[in-house]
Amino acid sequence: MTFVIAIDGPAAAGKGTLSRRIAEQYGFHHLDTGLTYRATAKALMDAGLPLDDEAVAEKTAREVDLSGLERAVLSEHSIGEAASKIAVMPAVRRALVEAQRAFARKEPGTVLDGRDIGTVVCPDAALKLYVTASPEVRAKRRHDEIVAGGGKADYTAIFEDVKKRDGRDMGRADSPLRPAEDAHLLDTSEMSIEAAFQAAKTLVDAAL
Ligand code: C5P
Repeated sequence: MTFVIAIDGPAAAGKGTLSRRIAEQYGFHHLDTGLTYRATAKALMDAGLPLDDEAVAEKTAREVDLSGLERAVLSEHSIGEAASKIAVMPAVRRALVEAQRAFARKEPGTVLDGRDIGTVVCPDAALKLYVTASPEVRAKRRHDEIVAGGGKADYTAIFEDVKKRDGRDMGRADSPLRPAEDAHLLDTSEMSIEAAFQAAKTLVDAAL
């Protein structure tokens, strides 16, 4: 049976980097499920379609190709905002969750990261991690990342944005962000990426 690792947590907690490193370490396939919501949102925006029509958004979600998703082309702030808006629509979630579950079955193993992997997409995952950090730390990391890339960043605006995104992800009726009962909590507020990776690796090795 495929070995599935479910990694959930709020925006900018470091779960993307952690998931990629775990997948690389064990030779598993990795899917950043946030990209499936972002790709759907971008396809709607590119086609000039509305972001508030559930039937239209569902049809677009069913056409998303999981094999060609790249964060670089989907990282824009406006795409993230639009993604979190269409992510409240049950029909959109059903369509994308179906595709994510099909991906999760790939051999020999998979790592899926998002908001509802341990609770909804893969409730039977062999290992579940809930990766988090304080809103202040997450905002600072995002701020430093933008500055390191040569961009201009306003910490207060980013901090407000992180809190707004948390509210939307945790407050929605369908599949709200929350740790699965059997998830291991990993608070990275005071941890380096390397320390978080070592902690996760110990848990994977114990579950393998
Ligand atoms: O992780 P990322 O910021 O790229 O995700 C974009 C948006 O997609 C999130 O704000 C969230 O609303 C939504 N999302 C979700 N379920 C997932 C992954 C992402 O609702 N499994």
